[in-house]
Amino acid sequence: MARLLVYLAICVSLLEVVYGASRTTPPAGAKVVRAGTTTSGEFGTLSAAVSSLPNDSSSQVIFIFPGTYSEQVYITRTGPLTIYGYTTDTTTYKSNQATIQAGVDATQAGSDDASGTLRVHKNDFKMYNVNVKNTFGVGSQAIALSQYGSRVGLYACGFYGYQDTLYANVGTQVYLRNYIEGAVDFIFGRQGLAYFGGNTIGVKGAGYVTANGRESNDSGSYVFNANTIVTASGASSNVTARTYFGRPWGNFAKVIFKNTVVTAPFNSALWSQWNVGDPRTDNILFAEFNSSGSGVSGASRPSFATVLSASQASAYSISSAVGSDYTSWVDMSYFI
Ligand SMILES: *[C@@H]1O[C@H](CO)[C@@H](O)[C@H](O)[C@H]1NC(C)=O
Ligand SMILES: *[C@@H]1O[C@H](CO)[C@@H](O)[C@H](O)[C@H]1NC(C)=O
Ligand SMILES: *[C@@H]1O[C@H](CO)[C@@H](O)[C@H](O)[C@H]1NC(C)=O
Ligand SMILES: *[C@@H]1O[C@H](CO)[C@@H](O)[C@H](O)[C@H]1NC(C)=O
Repeated sequence: MARLLVYLAICVSLLEVVYGASRTTPPAGAKVVRAGTTTSGEFGTLSAAVSSLPNDSSSQVIFIFPGTYSEQVYITRTGPLTIYGYTTDTTTYKSNQATIQAGVDATQAGSDDASGTLRVHKNDFKMYNVNVKNTFGVGSQAIALSQYGSRVGLYACGFYGYQDTLYANVGTQVYLRNYIEGAVDFIFGRQGLAYFGGNTIGVKGAGYVTANGRESNDSGSYVFNANTIVTASGASSNVTARTYFGRPWGNFAKVIFKNTVVTAPFNSALWSQWNVGDPRTDNILFAEFNSSGSGVSGASRPSFATVLSASQASAYSISSAVGSDYTSWVDMSYFI
């Protein structure tokens, strides 16, 4: 009997690896967020659950039941925090059922950061299977995730916006197996040390996937590995030939795309200067290795773009992006 149970347990964990596992109930000790809850001890919004946490060094967990939560959430507590969204498949963003959304733009809010639907201003943060949306739409900076922490991991989440969706601005951070949608400069930031692996990146309209704002030869960079860049559902027709891997917000921009499959219909230059008359290309590294797909066929890159050899490309990795201690804080089960 005991042997049979061990055998069954092994089968279940193999199935979880192959097909993904559910997470439909809160882990022991988690604060519970549930839309419309009347149960004592539960919270109707993520902000209320965050506010209930002690601001100390303890590790805390929040679980979010299915629903759309309309709020901006600002997290500053000191100790580690993990947020889990309800899902029937933890391995992918595709089954996410918990969504945090707001529609504030930077003009209203006073800054890019203040417009963020979710603002992470703390270290040691992890989030799994939650969608974060800024629904403002076309016309101004409007951030979904504003990220200022170190040792921050986002796993199988969805980030939705149009201009400036994902503000990877400060600190060591990894984005693994997420969906990231936008049009203009939608992965951007000044001093972020960021690694992006296995994400699906959806292009919604004419623009630039990245706008790295590195302003000096600091340790920041954006390293992308094994991501897929697609046309987002409902994208405007002007994506065609008017979308690029990136443009330099700062003139030390450092962006490396390895092993990318591009099916979005990129401009054949693949990379852009900042603006006509203000190129900002003098100290940048805009590099690729092994790009493939219809979006890059017939490419004719500008002189400020670099195609890396395999050995040159090996210098850019999760370790070069976020530091060699990454296994101590990254959930390696999502790593690619
Ligand atoms: C928690 O403490 C940190 C460090 O003192 C502080 O910066 C932050 O504002 C505090 N957050 C809350 C919610 O009190
Ligand atoms: C692309 O099309 C959308 C939808 O029509 C429009 O709002 C946006 O301004 C266009 N972008 C550019 C750069 O023309
Ligand atoms: C930037 O710094 C790195 C070492 O940190 C050095 O190898 C490189 O030459 C520097 N680049 C420039 C443009 O100063
Ligand atoms: C090139 O990238 C594709 C897509 O990520 C991958 O399947 C393939 O193994 C890569 N080839 C090399 C030589 O790394």
